[in-house]
Amino acid sequence: MSAKAQKLKYIEKLISQCQKCQLYKTATNHVPGFGNPEAEIVFIGEAPGYHEDQQGLPFVGNSGKLLDKLLAKIGLVRQDVFVCNILKHRPPNNRDPQPLEIKTCTPFLKAQLQIIRPKVIITLGRFAMNYFFPGEYISKIKGQIKKIDWNKLKLTIIPVYHPSAGLRNGAMLQALEQDFQTIGKFLGKI
Ligand code: URA
Repeated sequence: MSAKAQKLKYIEKLISQCQKCQLYKTATNHVPGFGNPEAEIVFIGEAPGYHEDQQGLPFVGNSGKLLDKLLAKIGLVRQDVFVCNILKHRPPNNRDPQPLEIKTCTPFLKAQLQIIRPKVIITLGRFAMNYFFPGEYISKIKGQIKKIDWNKLKLTIIPVYHPSAGLRNGAMLQALEQDFQTIGKFLGKI
């Protein structure tokens, strides 16, 4: 196992033991994230849903199926990237993450990113976008290529709508597809 994989395993163990907020009480499994520890690209969603909670894996339900289709269109598969969420336990009934939950859970995300050291982060939805750009509006900055210095990492962040928004609304799906074209071009994949 690579050094990065070993360090990520250690963070997973900490997540599995975490009782810093109430979400562990109603969750079936913790969902730390999954993918290539050596990835240059990390996708960050909001929080596990029903299927993710059942399986302990990120984006395995309908949103995940759409994510896989969007990835395929730009020549990527899950094994190329790392996928995780802002929250590592499912909020009951898929309610929005609460500010205190985000505050207590995101040190795990920060640790994961500092281990993986990706070059590019794609934020899926407003909660992941707001982690890097507090107070911003996703409708305003989605599809933009943003370069930031973050905890000693030089990151390119491309915020996009959450796949679940694309499943609900045709215009949002079109925007997602367009923004994935931007991502593919930026990565030199298309
Ligand atoms: N929605 C998310 O934000 N994350 C998942 O893992 C699944 C659905």
